Amino acid sequence: MRSLQQKFTVAYEYPVHFTTSAFAADNRVLVDTLLSAGPGPHRLLCVLDEGVLLSCARILEQIEAYARQHRETIKMVCSPLVLSGGEEVKNDKDGYLTIEAAIQELGICRQSFVLAIGGGALLDLAGFAAGTAHRGVRLIRMPTTVLSQDDSGVGVKNSINAFGKKNFLGTFVPPFAVINDSAFLHGLSQRDWIGGTAEAVKVALLKDPCFFRAIEQSADELALRGEAAMQQLIHHSAELHLQHIGLGGDPFETSSSRPLDFGHWSAHKLEQLTNFELRHGEAVAIGIALDSTYSYLDGLLAHGDWQRILMLLARLGFALSIPNTVRKLGPMEEADSLLHGLVEFREHLGGELTITLLRGIGEPMEVHSMDEELVISAVRAVEEWSYAMQLSTV
Ligand SMILES: NC(=O)c1ccc[n+]([C@@H]2O[C@H](COP(=O)([O-])OP(=O)(O)OC[C@H]3O[C@@H](n4cnc5c(N)ncnc54)[C@H](O)[C@@H]3O)[C@@H](O)[C@H]2O)c1
Ligand SMILES: [Zn+2]
Repeated sequence: MRSLQQKFTVAYEYPVHFTTSAFAADNRVLVDTLLSAGPGPHRLLCVLDEGVLLSCARILEQIEAYARQHRETIKMVCSPLVLSGGEEVKNDKDGYLTIEAAIQELGICRQSFVLAIGGGALLDLAGFAAGTAHRGVRLIRMPTTVLSQDDSGVGVKNSINAFGKKNFLGTFVPPFAVINDSAFLHGLSQRDWIGGTAEAVKVALLKDPCFFRAIEQSADELALRGEAAMQQLIHHSAELHLQHIGLGGDPFETSSSRPLDFGHWSAHKLEQLTNFELRHGEAVAIGIALDSTYSYLDGLLAHGDWQRILMLLARLGFALSIPNTVRKLGPMEEADSLLHGLVEFREHLGGELTITLLRGIGEPMEVHSMDEELVISAVRAVEEWSYAMQLSTV
């Protein structure tokens, strides 16, 4: 037998900028980002979330004026391509094909750029299209929701849903750059404003008890749309996500361990079982409540810590009970049951089932099985806790 051994490493580096009003005439973040790739003009295809357009009617005009003003750097190949935002855009393969067709027809090459402006769903889709066209076109993400600014938009994963499964088709491709523009957050509905805080609570529970305490201290301000508190939350959550990806030793998630997916085995299943009526962040809040309660019932997590977690999520404005439309909790073998989420989670990770639980705030631990009866007890305990909370606030 003869064999050759191939080995190389590729270093990835990308900036995550925090700014406000990225398309204001005097804001140079985007233009300098493009110039970091060399002198222009750079061909650019802009993909825009319709939700952003609806909340900011002048956005098209602003983008086009900015490109005209910086014409020596930016060559927009067409007017921004507007696609509906939200999970539906990841469920429907037409969105993916629309972007691929534009890349093909408008001459976007591996030296050009796709600029994606939108929520986590639109960014996941645009990232998947950019990552697969020509085997990878450069992508600049401009996240416009709390969740996409504090988690999804700063990472390396891109995907669409297929065969009824979340994120079934996707790539691990780091972006060229990320530009978090706080001005976009003004237009968010209260659901989307609060929804993204669930991912910050998640990463605080996994990595940073001081951050968890800071979110507790600013919970009321966050719920009432306090901008300074939200900017701090976004910045620190993004930083912790970036540190985990960059320094955690497994940026492209080759092992079955997936700590940043704490609370997600049930969250992904709940999104699917509610026909995506639940937003990702809302489902993650329920998933965190469920796995924290499981950790408590299993004797791992102290009662006081368990109460703090549920209380924080409730104060932020999350409903923690599983919606009535989810009819079956078990058994695990049945595809339309909540517990089937464990089967799908294992399939998605590959290898052994690995679930993150909590031993304390900031103290994650991994287990390789979950007791079905205890999961159902945890669902009931969260329901009872939520009911008692409602009674106490009447
Ligand atoms: N790639 C990753 O690592 C990763 C991580 C976490 C979550 N995600 C994915 O992110 C998605 C959820 O993202 P999301 O919470 O941003 O929700 P979303 O993208 O579904 O957007 C929610 C709604 O807000 C609208 N919208 C977006 N920006 C707006 C703005 N500035 N003003 C008004 N409306 C606006 C959208 O049109 C949509 O209707 C899910 O698909 C989830 O799976 C991906
Ligand atoms: Zn998530």
